[in-house]
Amino acid sequence: MKSLADIRFLITAGPTREFFDPIRYISNRSSGKMGYAIAEAARAISSAVMLVSGPTALTPPKGVEFVPVTTAQEMAEAVWSRFEAVDVCIMAAAVCDFRPKKTAASKIKKGSFSGVLELEPTPDILAELGRRKKSQVLVGFAAETDDLESNAREKLVRKGLDFIVANDTSAFDAETNRVAFIGHEGKVERLTELPKSEVAKAIIERAVRLVR
Ligand code: C5P
Repeated sequence: MKSLADIRFLITAGPTREFFDPIRYISNRSSGKMGYAIAEAARAISSAVMLVSGPTALTPPKGVEFVPVTTAQEMAEAVWSRFEAVDVCIMAAAVCDFRPKKTAASKIKKGSFSGVLELEPTPDILAELGRRKKSQVLVGFAAETDDLESNAREKLVRKGLDFIVANDTSAFDAETNRVAFIGHEGKVERLTELPKSEVAKAIIERAVRLVR
């Protein structure tokens, strides 16, 4: 058994931005608050915490190794290159699932835009970690508007996760979150609505219990 202070964490947070010209992008409503709270809760027990974050308005917690990224591709490279050296990886980032197929070299003029933005899938960072994983504890999030639990369960298996944190999309940018943990033992553990700092502690506690 590792001592708590020796556990190495990799946390992702925030949205990603996917550009279609140098100044315009598609993104999502993630504030990064949940992921930053998780990094802070991890830092309270260990000094080996890396936070890979998309653009947010937040200040990274003190004592955490901060890796800023912008796009899903940059986040993928930052995470994949660090994964082997950690014990716990928690993917709280709201990675854009799609990106524009082409990024114009200069600002698209109003008059010359075709009106169609062609998209392609971004790499699924977490699913790739599921394939690479050895003894690491891997935790993902599922934010859904419909069928939250059945979608979360499907993701748990497909992405090779140890457990999944299911939350309602109303958690975006909020100070609190209502989550459920879904693991392989089959039962769903529901938490009441709590400040994100408390949800973060519960996630870290659960992940740490699974470290071999
Ligand atoms: O499939 P979905 O995007 O809903 O899955 C959510 C989980 O997968 C989150 O933990 C998120 O950080 C991660 N994810 C990822 N790479 C993507 C999309 C999502 O790692 N391209």
